[in-house]
Amino acid sequence: MKGIVLAGGSGTRLMPLTSVFSKQLLPIYDKPMIFYPLSILMLAGIREILIITTSNDQNLFKKLLGHGERYGIDISYEVQDSPRGIADAFIIGEDFIGESSVSLILGDNIFFSHDFSSILKNAFKQRKGAHVFLTNVSNPEEFGVANVDKDGKVLSIEEKPQKPRSNLAVTGLYIYDNNVIEIAKTLKPSKRGELEITDINLDYLNQGNLNATTLGRGFTWLDTGTHESLISAGEFVRTIEDRQGLKIACLEEIAFNEDWIDISTLRGHITQYKNSPYEAYLKKLLEK
Ligand code: DAU
Repeated sequence: MKGIVLAGGSGTRLMPLTSVFSKQLLPIYDKPMIFYPLSILMLAGIREILIITTSNDQNLFKKLLGHGERYGIDISYEVQDSPRGIADAFIIGEDFIGESSVSLILGDNIFFSHDFSSILKNAFKQRKGAHVFLTNVSNPEEFGVANVDKDGKVLSIEEKPQKPRSNLAVTGLYIYDNNVIEIAKTLKPSKRGELEITDINLDYLNQGNLNATTLGRGFTWLDTGTHESLISAGEFVRTIEDRQGLKIACLEEIAFNEDWIDISTLRGHITQYKNSPYEAYLKKLLEK
């Protein structure tokens, strides 16, 4: 399984924060936003990751994350020169995906839950079709919305419906078999001029190949598309980290726990964080 983080787009709703650089580099409390979706792919055990950015921002992402050596993963980069839609990721990523299956995560999505890693690893065992993750939200009209039967089987998906049939949003984490590349190539732009991820999901649904996991109440999915949701996400991370003394989306910690990096690699990278709490956290990890 390969992974793609889609971190392009124009971030217009967040201007002027996004006038100069990418939304996915903005802070969510103590880390850049991209750490959070990247951590999810890593927690799922994915080590080959493509990050798609605008051409303007690619060097900043490279400066931040390099090619992933410090996290024991392999990061490559591609450019999306205009926001043609989320499904464009599979056209841009065709060579990267090769013959593999692929998981896509949106660069502005934050997930937090007990044992999410096992939920993901379980879903990733499915080799055929597509898999989406659904969760209850108070504002379904702002997302892709799924209608499911009593067994959790998806009956329909609609993109930003005016009259949602349920409160179940389709989150920005998707798993697809290799057919997704060919499906993406057949899509026509929607009314808003984008290649819609919902159209890909509908294609799998129509073939009877769409599976879904409904994430329960103990699960948190945060969106960071507005100034309000951005600050709420930061407050959420701060509250959890302060209370637990554990960091959410500390990439070195995930890599170390997975045995993807050894102590000397970790030690070598700590100094770059100078005298920050992030450095102190990693030093504690080393002492343990
Ligand atoms: O967050 C989940 C929702 O994401 C799903 O429920 C919807 O079905 C799906 O369409 C999408 O909703 P939005 O249309 O509101 O997504 P947005 O345009 O905000 O883009 C999501 C992220 O993807 C954002 O970080 C920017 C990036 N992006 C988006 C587009 C359209 C790109 O990198 N390139 C693009 O062309």
